[in-house]
Amino acid sequence: MAGKIPNTFIDSLMARVDIVDVIDSRVPLVRKGKEFQACCPFHEEKTPSFTVSPSKQFYHCFGCGAHGTAIGFLMDYANLGFVEAVEELAEGVGLEVPREKAVGHPTQPKESPGRLLGVVDEASNWFQQQLRTHPDAKKAIAYLKGRGLDGRTCAIFGVGFAPDGWDGLLVALGTNDTRTQQLLRAGVVTRRDSGDSRKGREFYDRFRGRIIFPIEDHRGRVVAFGGRILGEGEPKYLNSPETSLFHKGSELYGLHRARRAIGSENRSIVVEGYMDVISLAQFGVENAVATLGTATSRTHLQRLFRLAPEIVFCFDGDRAGRDAAWKAMQVALPEMQDGRQLGFLFLPDGEDPDTIVREEGGEAFRARVNEALPLDKFLFDTLTTQVDMGRMDGKARLVSMARPLINQMPAGALQQMMLDRLSSLTGLSGEQMGKPPQTKVAPRQRLRSQPLEPGQLSPMALAISLLLQNPHLGTKIENPEMLQQLELEGAEHLRQMLQLIKQDEGFNTARLLEHFRDSGVHSYLEKLASYPTSIHSEALHRHFNDTLEKLLAQQDEQRSLHLLEKSRGQGLEGGEKQELLALLDAKKQRIEQVSK
Ligand code: CTP
Ligand code: MN
Repeated sequence: MAGKIPNTFIDSLMARVDIVDVIDSRVPLVRKGKEFQACCPFHEEKTPSFTVSPSKQFYHCFGCGAHGTAIGFLMDYANLGFVEAVEELAEGVGLEVPREKAVGHPTQPKESPGRLLGVVDEASNWFQQQLRTHPDAKKAIAYLKGRGLDGRTCAIFGVGFAPDGWDGLLVALGTNDTRTQQLLRAGVVTRRDSGDSRKGREFYDRFRGRIIFPIEDHRGRVVAFGGRILGEGEPKYLNSPETSLFHKGSELYGLHRARRAIGSENRSIVVEGYMDVISLAQFGVENAVATLGTATSRTHLQRLFRLAPEIVFCFDGDRAGRDAAWKAMQVALPEMQDGRQLGFLFLPDGEDPDTIVREEGGEAFRARVNEALPLDKFLFDTLTTQVDMGRMDGKARLVSMARPLINQMPAGALQQMMLDRLSSLTGLSGEQMGKPPQTKVAPRQRLRSQPLEPGQLSPMALAISLLLQNPHLGTKIENPEMLQQLELEGAEHLRQMLQLIKQDEGFNTARLLEHFRDSGVHSYLEKLASYPTSIHSEALHRHFNDTLEKLLAQQDEQRSLHLLEKSRGQGLEGGEKQELLALLDAKKQRIEQVSK
């Protein structure tokens, strides 16, 4: 696991990123005065109530209450984790995400990803060098030739060779303890079980006697390897384990290289194997990627849909291929907003993209892709073969199987047409089948979308809300000493915000919010940031200082009530009596001032 991302980095990232760019590239925005608008991507609407404020660097939907910073937007819109969202934003502005050293494991210092990337890269170069120079490389080259790969394609994909033996890589790269540990964490070296008492080496090469396919992440950095045995043997493929750099469930083999072709062809092709991607590329089909021995995940699909609106899944025609396609379809349904397309291409039994493209060539393969089954056909063909459509109860069964699937789709024309198809297959009208629930809002969003009612805020919440939305207010506080005395709930947060604003006047709403992401109050602060405080800018300053005064009055009030109570019970001690008198006196003065 990588260490924490330092807060200072998040802050400088937030200072560079423009939320308008981030959202506009995904949900086109239209300028409306000082803000930007669009129809909300988180709920169904016809007139825009989704608003993005460049000055606050914050978005807010008046319709469904969705709101957040650029990071929050990516997390909810693209379903990314916090770290992924930060990486995505950092990539957009050309920053490398640093990691703090994790505390608490002094014996195992955590690697910065940069370090580990360097190690993996060195390993990749070493494997490639072995393919050129190792005495046994002839076998490997013969194997690759036998599979029809030319030298150029191998070079493009960085194909390498791990010779037989236990420590070729270890000896070459693990020149000291630190480096050996790095190789271990990079997943290219394995450690013998501590329970294994037999004599022998503690560390050894993970990949031995295999063809090596370097796996790049979506940014084109080598993060892991797949190793294929030469010829027959088990396991056929051996892959790097999950490391801090490599997450099988979200990376796709060949994605970085395929990016441009996916964009120009307006379509990506998902296949199952390394060799499929490589052979297809050699025959000019360069928009193919492979899952890494895992099922297709939502992250995979989101990555691909960001590059082009159509995905074609290419699977074996056998039972396993059909099942995998069905699973991929189920994962894809919630992503099928209008404009996106899915295709399913099943190859003849015993063939895979690698074999078929070598038999038929690139053009023929492309033609097959063009003929792929569209989503609707695949879904209904599959289901109708599972029921007896000549019987009423068979058709009812079709409805019960198809409805939950179609309901997963976002509302739109495609979903409506799928429902119409179901109607025409069964003879039931849309009304008779019932309306689909209109849900488009991500679950995380729905949880926190309950807006605050106007007029509902305590003076503290109001003060924080005003400050969050207008950080410049913090630079002109009339009575800064009084803030130090505040003990009310929330006072600490208020002081922290003021401290930040004092350090850097460039603070905006989003930067302030990101400082509190890990605190228990983050989602409440987000609500306060979108709370409507429709006060004219000139009056704002007055209003803020008045609110701060109110806080102090509220605190005095609480304290005097407490002391009064105590005087009736156990009695006051020490200076408490004087304190109470002073508090009551101050209260009297305040009342007189107000009535003047
Ligand atoms: N795979 C794996 N581990 C295995 C077998 C397969 O990780 N033991 C993954 C690999 O990513 C592989 C993909 O699943 O590329 C598809 O496997 P399979 O269809 O068995 O292999 P092919 O890609 O056809 O391999 P080849 O053409 O080299 O026989
Ligand atoms: Mn194959």
